[in-house]
Amino acid sequence: RLDERELLYEIGELAAKFYRNLLERNEEAAAARRYLEKRGVDRETAEAYRLGYAPERWDALARYLAQKGVPPEQAEKLGLLRRREGGGFYDTFRNRLLFAITDIHGRIIGFGGRVLDDSLPKYINSPESPIYHKSEVLFGAHLAKGAMREQGSAIVVEGYFDHLALYQAGVRNVVATCGTALTDGHIKLLKRYATKVYTLFDADSAGKKATLRALDLFLQENFPAYVVELTAGEDPDSFVKKEGVTAFQDRLAKARPVIEYFFRDLLRQVDIGTVEGKVRVVEELAPRLAKIANPIERELYVREVSRIVGVENRSLLAKIGRGAAPAN
Ligand code: GTP
Ligand code: MN
Ligand code: MN
Ligand code: MN
Ligand code: MN
Repeated sequence: RLDERELLYEIGELAAKFYRNLLERNEEAAAARRYLEKRGVDRETAEAYRLGYAPERWDALARYLAQKGVPPEQAEKLGLLRRREGGGFYDTFRNRLLFAITDIHGRIIGFGGRVLDDSLPKYINSPESPIYHKSEVLFGAHLAKGAMREQGSAIVVEGYFDHLALYQAGVRNVVATCGTALTDGHIKLLKRYATKVYTLFDADSAGKKATLRALDLFLQENFPAYVVELTAGEDPDSFVKKEGVTAFQDRLAKARPVIEYFFRDLLRQVDIGTVEGKVRVVEELAPRLAKIANPIERELYVREVSRIVGVENRSLLAKIGRGAAPAN
């Protein structure tokens, strides 16, 4: 029996070619091409990412796949077609710019589709399927793996356009989470190529939340992580466009360990002039400091935090329940 997964990869490939071809030369895709131009995406980048366009029709892909003899039930498994109530199938992606989501080998496993205006939802993404496991896939990893290995580091961004913008600016060791929370599966993937990671999330409250959530995962997985901070309100795409690649490299060089970011954020929220404030800082930090695997690094942070909060090193060490060096 033909492996079902193989068939799904083939359908993904067919769909990607179909959408790509439309974006490249079809009259219907004129607005999508203008949109890309407006966002500063050049043709070479569009080709590398296999960008496509899903036309404003209910059955464009459905008809094409039928012509190719693809069973619609299989395309439905990839989330490309949906079942009509009265029978038959219709296209999931309509009038959207499409980003091909690929696995680490570059095989098509799904799509992310953006509207060309301000309508909602801004993006729709392919669902989980037998070939697309969201907790294991990072957008653009197949384009980034060589650079991640060469540089020993990975940069994690939020969005498709952030990935494209950095790629175009010559920054290649980049992957994107694309609306999913970072998982230990993602970290395992990154560990295969890099020894440290930079988080470069949007400089807004959602990005900040994502950064703080990622902290515990990085600590748990013992993966050195640094936070790159952008000008408030910007994301990597808008930052590089406004301030340029040199400014971006400068921010990257100034990245701080994620635990420091956490500590600084905490100090902005609590008043460490009060006992409650000090207690809160210790309560929040202790379990995280306890997870730092390197004893020297742990000890240095313990000293720093103790000094700033105004407690004895050994009190904090007791709280951590994990002696760094002999507590003297
Ligand atoms: P642009 O406006 O195109 O620059 O998008 P962005 O990438 O800056 O958007 P945002 O920071 O809001 O979101 C980051 C990523 O989350 C996007 O690239 C998408 O992958 C995902 N995302 C954003 N909006 C939606 C949505 O409405 N639905 C879903 N499923 N995902 C979304
Ligand atoms: Mn798998
Ligand atoms: Mn965002
Ligand atoms: Mn953006
Ligand atoms: Mn954004």
